[in-house]
Order: sequence, then structure tokens, then C-alpha cells
Amino acid sequence: MNPAAQTELRFEFGENWARYLAHLNQHRICHAEHALQNLVGDLRGRSFLDAGSGSGIHSLAAVRLGATRVHSFDLDAQSVSCTAELKRRYYPAADYWTVETGSVLNADYIRRLGRFDVVYSWGVLHHTGHLWKALEIAAEAVATGGLLVVAIYNDQGAWSRYWRRVKLVCNRTPAALRPLYAALVMAPVELRELAKAVLRLRFRQYFDRWTDHYSPRGMNRWHDIIDWVGGYPFEVAKPEEVFDFYRQRGLTLEKLTTSGGSKACNEFVFRRITLS
Ligand SMILES: C[S@@+](CC[C@H](N)C(=O)[O-])C[C@H]1O[C@@H](n2cnc3c(N)ncnc32)[C@H](O)[C@@H]1O
Repeated sequence: MNPAAQTELRFEFGENWARYLAHLNQHRICHAEHALQNLVGDLRGRSFLDAGSGSGIHSLAAVRLGATRVHSFDLDAQSVSCTAELKRRYYPAADYWTVETGSVLNADYIRRLGRFDVVYSWGVLHHTGHLWKALEIAAEAVATGGLLVVAIYNDQGAWSRYWRRVKLVCNRTPAALRPLYAALVMAPVELRELAKAVLRLRFRQYFDRWTDHYSPRGMNRWHDIIDWVGGYPFEVAKPEEVFDFYRQRGLTLEKLTTSGGSKACNEFVFRRITLS
């Protein structure tokens, strides 16, 4: 068992999401929308389950892309508040968009929600403390012919063990000191990126990472760093392990974007061919 599951030590993602919302703008929302559309195609008239909705930006993107039932849930109360805040800001009257507290590890809860055309659980299941159980339960919510989107941290062996330790220490550090801790831990990574940019005469490319130009999936660099250094429990998987796991459960792989061997997430889109 993952040691985090024993200690119940858990990063409070919602605090970071609440700060991120102050930086949310149309530009980031459009990025999130394009990223989602690239993954799942046309969402018009489809149902969408956002399992571990975090800030809620991807639920918002699903609504904007025409999903006719959106259900967002998260374990963390502040993440739920962030998602609810986005609903209040942009679609207060959307009775087809539900936001609530829930856990992807609660099989009864997920079963009660029914099946969805798209189940989206990006960067969530590896933070539950029970990765394989979470992968199993999330897949059960996918309707026949529907899509499952998951992003799971890449298994880098010894490096992954190093990062788990870094995250554990972060979560044992007083909250006020965590930004400093994150900055120190990430300094070598950032300096390496800066050195690469200098050698390639691409300063602009490096500094753009700290502005609105950097917006993969609508995210923001500093909040990504806090999320990465703090994100605990932390589990990892090799792409082929996730592929095999779902193949045995009647899901076929439609798209895979690997992390290129880095510490980032491998992103999968599976289609459910048969009901389990
Ligand atoms: C890295 S964030 C990703 C948020 C969002 N999916 C995104 O792509 O931006 C991980 C989220 O998973 C949530 N989470 C962790 N364990 C969970 C669980 N058992 N059930 C539901 N959500 C969970 C956290 O509270 C956090 O908001």
C-alpha cells in the first residue's frame, strides 16, 4: 500500500485552486476549452463527469462546449467551493450542472451517479492514495461507447521515489513556509530550463512560462509548481500498465500523450466498448 494511504496525510489542493481563481481570465478559459475539445471532440448534447474537478475550469469548459449534463465533484471542500464559484460566476442558472463533494474511491457514490458519455479525471487518481482502485471505479462511470480521460504521473523509478519524499516533506512543513520550500525545491529545475533557453538564445520562451503565454489546459506556472510539489498522496504508473489494466476491462486506447519520460503525466483517452 502507498505509505500516504496509511498516514492519511493529504495536500489541500483547494487552497491553491482558490488562489489560482484570482488569475483566471478568458484567455485561460479558452485554453482549457481547446485542450478539452482536442481530447474528447464534440461535447454537444453529451454528459460529462468531472471526477476531482479542482478549480472547476474543465467543468466550465465542458458547459461552454455544449455538454447537457455536467456533474463535478471533488473530495476537497475548497476545490468544491472553487468549482461552485465558477458556476456562480458564469452559469448560475445552469440546472444541468451539479457541483458537490464526493470521492472517486466511493464506489456506491459513483454508481448512484449513473453512466456518462465522458468521464474526465485529469491528474486526480494518483492523488487518492489508492490509484488502481480509483482507476477501476472511475471507469465504471463510463457509458458504453463513452470516453474516459485520465492523466497519471509517469513512473520514473528512483526519481519518482525522490519526488514522493519531497512531497511528503512539503506536507509536513508549516503551511506558511510551503511556497518557500516549493521555490527552493524547484530552483534547480528552473535554473536548468533557464540555462537551456540561454544556450539556445530563447530567453523569451523561458520568461513566457511565467506570463499568460503559459497556459496549458488553462493552468498557471506558479500554481502548477505548488500543485506539483505539494500534491500528496503521490503514485505513479507506466503507460503500459494503465493500458493493460483497462484493456482487461473492455476499454480501448484512443489517444495517448506520454510525458516523454519526464515526471509529468501520461494522458490517456480510452473508449468503453462493452459494459463491465
Ligand atoms: C491536481 S488536482 C486536478 C484537478 C483537475 N482535475 C484539473 O485537471 O485541473 C487533483 C484534484 O483531485 C482531488 N482529489 C484527490 N483525491 C480525490 C478523491 N478521492 N475523490 C475526488 N477528488 C479527489 C483533489 O482535491 C484535487 O482537487
